[in-house]
Amino acid sequence: MEVLSTARNICILTGAGVSAESGVPTFRDAQTGIWAQFRAEDLATPEAFARDPVRVWEWYGWRRSLIGQVEPNPAHRALAEWQSAFPGEWTLITQNVDGLHQRAGSAEVIELHGNILRTKCSSEDRVVEAWPETDEVPPCCPHCGAFLRPDVVWFGEMLPVDALGLAAEKSGSCDVFVCIGTSGLVYPAAGLPSHAKAMGAFLIEINPDPTPLSDLADTCLRGKAGLVLPELLASLRSAQKQP
Ligand code: OAD
Repeated sequence: MEVLSTARNICILTGAGVSAESGVPTFRDAQTGIWAQFRAEDLATPEAFARDPVRVWEWYGWRRSLIGQVEPNPAHRALAEWQSAFPGEWTLITQNVDGLHQRAGSAEVIELHGNILRTKCSSEDRVVEAWPETDEVPPCCPHCGAFLRPDVVWFGEMLPVDALGLAAEKSGSCDVFVCIGTSGLVYPAAGLPSHAKAMGAFLIEINPDPTPLSDLADTCLRGKAGLVLPELLASLRSAQKQP
């Protein structure tokens, strides 16, 4: 694709679809999606944690163990290879909390919704690496005694200010913005593609299904990220070899 081979500044936004082929369920698939099986209000809000911290802690523990059993897929690996081969500015913004981009080798990933593998203090908001062995659920912060919680963004919470600021800056200055595997329904992340487009970027969507972003996109590549991205990378490589 000509626009990608000439771009000097590329920005990527990924969502749950990029990890689907690793075996991590997406959120909104009608059958297998997380929100088809569980109610976000019971598990992914500060109120849910205040009401039933044991249930919330254990549910995130279950999701963490699921993620621990899977591997990055060809989509994650293609993005990491693309980044390391790209001569210009290349930014990867993700809504995913699974750390699979980093495990595939992507660097400087902007995590908009936190990371499920990290734990933080529910009172002081600081990341906690280790705490004394305990049977208590949730365990308590070794510094202040408040409950520990996963370092993810819950509904009703602000996104990390630095990550969101950087994501907005990079989206606003890229030549090409690529949305991969996101339903484009959850803001403020879902506002980044239109911001990029308004600032002059060429917008590409990679998704097997249409989304609210599709009409805005200049090009939609319909297919699974694990197939489309390696093919895209291969065609960019062969275009570079042309005289
Ligand atoms: P969704 O579950 O809303 O959307 C996943 C998208 O991936 C859908 O558009 C699918 O069509 C697409 N998809 C499925 N398989 C794919 C594949 N193999 N390759 C490419 N695309 C595929 O997930 P997100 O958009 O990431 O937030 O959801 C956004 C946020 O809502 C999440 O970060 C999470 C959730 O509630 C929080 O937890 C704060």
